Amino acid sequence: MHRLFVAIRPPEDIRDRLIDAMDDSPELRWVGDDNLHLTLRFIGEVERPLADDIAVALSRVRSERFELRVTGVGIFERRNGGALWAGVQPKGPVAALAAKVERACVAAGLESERRSFHPHVTLARFNRREAGTAQALLERNRALASDAFAVERFILYESRLSRHGPHYEEIADYPLA
Ligand code: 2AM
Repeated sequence: MHRLFVAIRPPEDIRDRLIDAMDDSPELRWVGDDNLHLTLRFIGEVERPLADDIAVALSRVRSERFELRVTGVGIFERRNGGALWAGVQPKGPVAALAAKVERACVAAGLESERRSFHPHVTLARFNRREAGTAQALLERNRALASDAFAVERFILYESRLSRHGPHYEEIADYPLA
């Protein structure tokens, strides 16, 4: 089985800006530079033939390049903890690309995604008892902002879980026009 997702990889200067916003609070599990990304579609575990069909369907996605900038931070609260993330603007073009990626995934045979799309770059994950630390970081980083960056491609990643956490491997990349 292959655990897949489709994402945008921010360029190095933008990742540096995100890393600057991180601190060394040991209560939060910070995302390393190699793993910073904006998910367009989480696919999950699929067998090889379906993975190949998804890769082909994604190669048929046609979309123009666009610009994004990082702005603000937020928190997702989940049952066992949460995630601290950086937001992006404008949302229109990235949501349009995510919708095309979604259509390609469904055309390849996946069930439709029922959750709504909230474009974000996860900076840290935390356990529920550390919610206060995450909230303090949120307050400190409300003004987080970056320059605009060009989104020129999107990527199909495979996530491999190891003792050291997930490792994301680029399986295919898809240039935008
Ligand atoms: P997150 O950053 O908000 O945690 C790889 O796991 C990527 O897929 C992560 O960016 C993660 O989002 C996203 N993702 C979306 N839904 C997921 C799910 N049900 N399980 C794991 N990751 C998911």
